[in-house]
Amino acid sequence: MAQLWGGRFTKETDQAVYDFNASITFDKRLIRQDIAGSQAHVKMLAKQGILTEEEARKIDEELEAILGDVLSGRLEITGQYEDVHSFVEANLIRRIGDVGKKLHTGRSRNDQVALDMRLYIREQVDETDAGLKKLLQVILGTMEENLETYMPGFTHLQKAQPTTLAHHYGAYFEMFKRDRQRMADIRKRMNYCPLGAGAMAGTTYPLDREYTAQLLGFDGPTLNSMDSVSDRDYLIEFLAALSTVMMHLSRFCEEIILWNSNEYQFVEIDDTFSTGSSIMPQKKNPDIAELVRGKTGRVYGALMSLLTTMKGIPLAYNKDMQEDKEVSFDAIDTVTSCLSLFTGMLETMKFHKDRMAASAMNGFTNATDAADYLVGKGVPFRDAHGIVGRLVLYCIEQGTSIEKLSLEELQGISDKFQEDIYDAVSLKTCVEKRLTIGAPGREAMEKVIALHHRYLDGES
Ligand code: ARG
Repeated sequence: MAQLWGGRFTKETDQAVYDFNASITFDKRLIRQDIAGSQAHVKMLAKQGILTEEEARKIDEELEAILGDVLSGRLEITGQYEDVHSFVEANLIRRIGDVGKKLHTGRSRNDQVALDMRLYIREQVDETDAGLKKLLQVILGTMEENLETYMPGFTHLQKAQPTTLAHHYGAYFEMFKRDRQRMADIRKRMNYCPLGAGAMAGTTYPLDREYTAQLLGFDGPTLNSMDSVSDRDYLIEFLAALSTVMMHLSRFCEEIILWNSNEYQFVEIDDTFSTGSSIMPQKKNPDIAELVRGKTGRVYGALMSLLTTMKGIPLAYNKDMQEDKEVSFDAIDTVTSCLSLFTGMLETMKFHKDRMAASAMNGFTNATDAADYLVGKGVPFRDAHGIVGRLVLYCIEQGTSIEKLSLEELQGISDKFQEDIYDAVSLKTCVEKRLTIGAPGREAMEKVIALHHRYLDGES
């Protein structure tokens, strides 16, 4: 046990208590942020004349060396330290002696950990954004290639109206675009520096908080020292945004699992992203999609866990807040791997376009268009709806579909049907006539795709 405190104690901490209290096993992942924060702090202390330039230089150099040694594996972060902050300080003192003891001047682990977490989460917000951008590029690529890949669109998982693969993927483009916007919002709101808040009431040293904020790439210092050490709102927002990313990925996975089933056979997941069965030789399972869908639960769990942890915490710092780390780290690792694997799976997935079009042809996906055709012939929509309803019933009884009926059969139901009905209810017409912005018709889709390109190129 190497701890930062002890002066007021007469007995050693019980080992079980020490272990229960320690966070080193998981907060060691904050080593880079912890050292960057310390380096900024020391630089500011020298600028303010609280440390000499020589002292600050020594500390800064050794912090850099410690980081290098940890990253190269020469120095191991072990359980003999309570947390990453103690590890760094203890090693600094071991290496440069008394000067190292000045590092913690005007600082508390409360503002230190608040800073470390913010720096780490800010990086993760950026990483998630980059992963989402890559996914959007893959989605957009598939959209461009499939403007005329017809497929059924569903409501209630019942065939509704024909659409295209480009249009279907376009829905996911919107979802993941909103996810990126959420990342940008969070980043903006969280980008204030808590360093200098001390334990809870600031310090008596003349710290320059604007300066450390600037050194660490923040927009400025936080404005209340109690809130600074006890705010984890940004983390809750991030977990909520990650939960939404997972919800979107999970919906997409659910569709891919359906599309990949023997019944649909709309897609084939590449062998490199599929798994087999130990007993059934014929099987090729969509395990990756199922796992992404399944892992959504643990990300939601992290959000619920942190909300619950935070809800009863009086101001300011309380040790409960150490519980923010494991769940968040797990959620972040989960989303990172899900995003990357899902993108790879999507990139390599093949479409059975003939089956998709065939499926769009049956199931009366052109019934709305048949009704719209009658409206074009002067029939009020509600009446047209009724006529086509009877037409569908007739087709079901005869085991056929609207476009396969003879003109006599059609006219037997309504004399408004003419030869041009066949073109009006063809798959191509049903899709291509839908030209309002947001609809699947080619021209409408091309406009939207151009906007998506501008967005991904950073122009909008
Ligand atoms: N490991 C602690 C955490 O994650 C660091 C802050 C400890 N501060 C304290 N006063 N005990 O929250």
